[in-house]
Amino acid sequence: METDRIKWNQRYESEDSFLGEHPSPFLAREIERIKMLTPGFAALDIACGEGRNSLFLAQQGFKVTGLDISDAGLIKGRKRARAKGVDIDFRRVDLDSYVLEECYDLIINFNFLMRELIPSEVACLKPGGVLLFDTIMASEQLLQTHNPSYLLHPGELRRIFEAFPGVILYADETCCGDMPTTRLLFRKNENNGGKPNAISA
Ligand SMILES: C[S@@+](CC[C@H](N)C(=O)[O-])C[C@H]1O[C@@H](n2cnc3c(N)ncnc32)[C@H](O)[C@@H]1O
Repeated sequence: METDRIKWNQRYESEDSFLGEHPSPFLAREIERIKMLTPGFAALDIACGEGRNSLFLAQQGFKVTGLDISDAGLIKGRKRARAKGVDIDFRRVDLDSYVLEECYDLIINFNFLMRELIPSEVACLKPGGVLLFDTIMASEQLLQTHNPSYLLHPGELRRIFEAFPGVILYADETCCGDMPTTRLLFRKNENNGGKPNAISA
């Protein structure tokens, strides 16, 4: 949506680095396991912002596509990629209407929630591909400042992924503090087949 583009451009233009330059701690912690699991190195960063996680993945050898609606975020991402000597395919798209068509070995979805996009993310994972999700959950405090449709409910992320053909290799929720968060690592079945879904976390 155009209002999202304007809002995020203003945020990225007014701060040096909105979410910092370091990758998400969850991604950094899981990267060795991810590299062992993914069948290949094509990665997609959903709502990549200024590209901190895209950059990290590119430095780890992934061929990364980063999608975001904010030109200002992507300009910074491209600049940082050039400075680090890595090549990232940053694309300005509105995920409200963009259709995911290519297939990926790894998809990350951090600090962004569009519930209706999740089935397409799983659909465009290659067999054996991995999806990492890390975003905020609703709390009384956050509900006063955030749009409720951008906040997950306790247990919701796990329930969503239990319906997909694959294994939840890790899931947790941090309910305390001012930023309750939920994280999940999912691996799609290698045979691309249907249910039953297995849960190991
Ligand atoms: C909190 S930031 C997260 C950035 C990045 N994932 C990270 O963790 O560093 C949310 C991002 O979602 C993007 N965004 C919001 N609405 C969008 C839309 N409709 N299509 C694509 N990107 C969108 C914003 O531009 C912003 O960069």
